[in-house]
Amino acid sequence: MARKNKNKLKPQKIEKPKGLALSLPKGLALSLPKGKLGVLLPGLGAVATTFIAGILAVRKGIARPFGSITQMQTIRLGKRTEKITPRIKDFVPLADLNDLVFGGWDIFKDDCYTAAKKAGVLEQNLLEKLKPELKKIKPMKGVFNRDYVRNLDGSFIKWGNRWEMAEKLIEDIRNFKRENNCRRLVMVWCGSTEIYMERKGIHNSIKNFEKALKKDSKFISPSMIYAYAAIKEGIPYANGAPNLSADIPALVELSKKTQTPIAGKDFKTGQTLFKTIIAPGLKARMLGLKGWFSTNILGNRDGQVLDDPGSFKTKEKSKLSVLEYILQPHLYPELYGKTHHQVRINYYPPSGDNKEAWDNLDIFGWLGYPMQIKINFLCRDSILAAPIVLDLVLFLDLAKRAGLYGIQEWLSFYFKSPQVATGLYPEHDLFIQHTKLKNTLRWLRGEKSITHLGREYYQH
Ligand SMILES: NC(=O)c1ccc[n+]([C@@H]2O[C@H](COP(=O)([O-])OP(=O)(O)OC[C@H]3O[C@@H](n4cnc5c(N)ncnc54)[C@H](O)[C@@H]3O)[C@@H](O)[C@H]2O)c1
Repeated sequence: MARKNKNKLKPQKIEKPKGLALSLPKGLALSLPKGKLGVLLPGLGAVATTFIAGILAVRKGIARPFGSITQMQTIRLGKRTEKITPRIKDFVPLADLNDLVFGGWDIFKDDCYTAAKKAGVLEQNLLEKLKPELKKIKPMKGVFNRDYVRNLDGSFIKWGNRWEMAEKLIEDIRNFKRENNCRRLVMVWCGSTEIYMERKGIHNSIKNFEKALKKDSKFISPSMIYAYAAIKEGIPYANGAPNLSADIPALVELSKKTQTPIAGKDFKTGQTLFKTIIAPGLKARMLGLKGWFSTNILGNRDGQVLDDPGSFKTKEKSKLSVLEYILQPHLYPELYGKTHHQVRINYYPPSGDNKEAWDNLDIFGWLGYPMQIKINFLCRDSILAAPIVLDLVLFLDLAKRAGLYGIQEWLSFYFKSPQVATGLYPEHDLFIQHTKLKNTLRWLRGEKSITHLGREYYQH
C-alpha cells in the first residue's frame, strides 16, 4: 500500500543510467534519511548484541558487514548489455550506519558489553575494542510474563496490567527518541520465542484488542504489547521470532491506521535458510522427496528457551511449514505427497551459540531410484542473524519514508514464516523472495522490473 508523503524531499541523486527512467511510481515520494535513526530492540541477547557490536566494529573500520544485502549487494538495472549495477545502498536512500543509535529492553539488567560477553558469540578481543560504547547501551525494564517463556526468569521487569505496560513502553519510546535526538525509529523483536498461541476473537480488530489490553487478557503476550506500542507510535516493527506478535488482524489494522510498515516472522538463518535454498532446487528438477530429517544441537539461551515444549512448538510450526509451501504436494502428489518431515532441537550447553545441524534427505529420481543427501552445517546462529537485523532496520525505515505501510511482503526473504495478507499463502522459495525484494527496490525508484525473459537480446 502507498500513500502520498507530504514531506517530499528530493530523491537521492543517482547517476542517471542512459535510457533508464528515474521518476518514482505515481503516489510515491521517497524522503531522504536525514538525522539519527533509533533502533529499538526488545531482547538484548545474542542476536541483538552481535548486531550492535557488529555495527560499531564496521563503523570503526575493524570489520566488514558480510551477509548484509544493504551493505554489500549490487542491483542490475536495465539490460545485461548495459552493465549498470549500482550497489543497493547507492541506489535507494538508506540510513547511514553512522546515524544508527541503539536501545532496547531486557528482563536482565546487563549492559550490552556484559550481555555480549555472556552470549559468547564474539571474541573477547573484539569486544574489548568496543567496550566503552557497548557499556553505555543499557536495557530498559522489560515487559515480561513467565507464562509465555517458561524457561526464563528475569527480575528486571515492569509492573502493571497489560494496558499500563503498553503505556509505559510508549513512554520509554518517546523518552528514547527525545534523549537521543532521533528523527525516526524502528523496532525489531529480538526477544525469546514465546509459547505457541492461536488467534482468538480479541485479535480480530484493534477495538477488541485494546479492550482486551485494558481487561488484562491472557491472550495478549508481551511481544504483542511491544508490537502494539511501536505500531501505535507509527514505528516500523519486525518480528525476529516465530511467536504471533504483530501477525494478528488487530495489529495489521492498526498498522494501516498509523501508516506503519510491519514484517515477520522468525529470522531465516541456519538450517531453514538451507532448506529454502535446496528444496526449490529439488522441485525445479522434479526430484522426489521421501523424507527430510533435521536435527540441531545448540547451547545458548535461545536453546534453553526452546527446551520448553511450549516455545518449541512455536518454533517447530515455523520450521515445518517451509517445505510444504515450497514443494506444493497438492500439485505434485507423486513427488511430495508422502514426504516425512521431522525437525528436532536439542539443548546442549557445551555448544553455546555454535549450533550444529544435521540433515538427512531421502530423495528419488528417474524411475524412482533412491538417493541420499547429508548436510552437516556447523553454523553460528547470531552471525547469520545479525545482518538480517541490519537489513530489516534499513529497509523498514526506507519503506516508512516511501509511504509504504501494512505488511511488507517484499521482506519475506528474511523470514522463516513470512507474514502475508489473509488468504494468501506465503512464498518461501529464497530465490523468488530475492527477486521480489530487488524488484521492489527497482519499483521504488521507478525502474523496470527484471523478468529474466531476455527476448530483447535475440530480436532485431
Ligand atoms: N539466532 C538466530 O539465528 C535466530 C534465528 C531465528 C530466530 N531467532 C529468534 O530470535 C530471538 C533472539 O535470539 P537470541 O539467540 O538472541 O536469544 P537470546 O536468548 O540470547 O536473547 C533473547 C533475549 O530476550 C530477552 N527477553 C525475553 N523475553 C523478553 C521480554 N518479554 N522483554 C524483553 N526482553 C526479553 C532474554 O532475556 C534474552 O536476553 C529468539 O526468539 C530466537 O528464537 C534467532
